[in-house]
Amino acid sequence: MSAVDEPDWERLEHQARQALPSAYAPYSRFGVAACVLAEDGRSFVGVNVENASYGLTVCAERNAVAAAVIAGVRRLVAAVVVCTGPEPPTPCGACRQVLWEFGTELAVRSVGASGHVLHFELAALLPAAFGPEQLSPSD
Ligand code: THU
Repeated sequence: MSAVDEPDWERLEHQARQALPSAYAPYSRFGVAACVLAEDGRSFVGVNVENASYGLTVCAERNAVAAAVIAGVRRLVAAVVVCTGPEPPTPCGACRQVLWEFGTELAVRSVGASGHVLHFELAALLPAAFGPEQLSPSD
C-alpha cells in the first residue's frame, strides 16, 4: 500500500471479526480483536489474552503487533479494532504507545458490535508521544 492509498477497511475488519471468537477473556467477558496492516500490504490479527493474574493480560492490539513483528514487519499503516461490546473499543494507552513504535502515521478504526465506527489518527490519540528520537545516544 502506498502512502496515498486508503486501507481496505472492510477486509481488515473482516479479518478482525474472524479472529474475535478466539479472544481469551474469561474474566472481563469483553473480547477484543485487532487487525494491523503493514506497509507491504500484509495484515496480522491479535486477540486479547487474559490471565488469572489480571495484570498480565495482553490486549488484542499488542498481540497483533507482535504477530507482525515476528513476520519481519517494522512499519504499520492501519489498524482495525473490534470487540464484543456495543461501543467501539479505543486502544488503551499502553497499546497506543506500542502501535506508535511501528506506526507514527497509523490510522485506527474502532468498530463496536452495534456497528458504531470511530476513526482516529494515532498521532491524535497520543499527543507529544515518546519515541526513539528522545533516547540519548549511548556513546
Ligand atoms: N482490551 C483490549 O484488548 N484492547 C483494548 O483496546 C482495550 C481493552 C482488553 C483488555 C482486557 O482483556 C479487556 O479488553 C477488558 O479491559
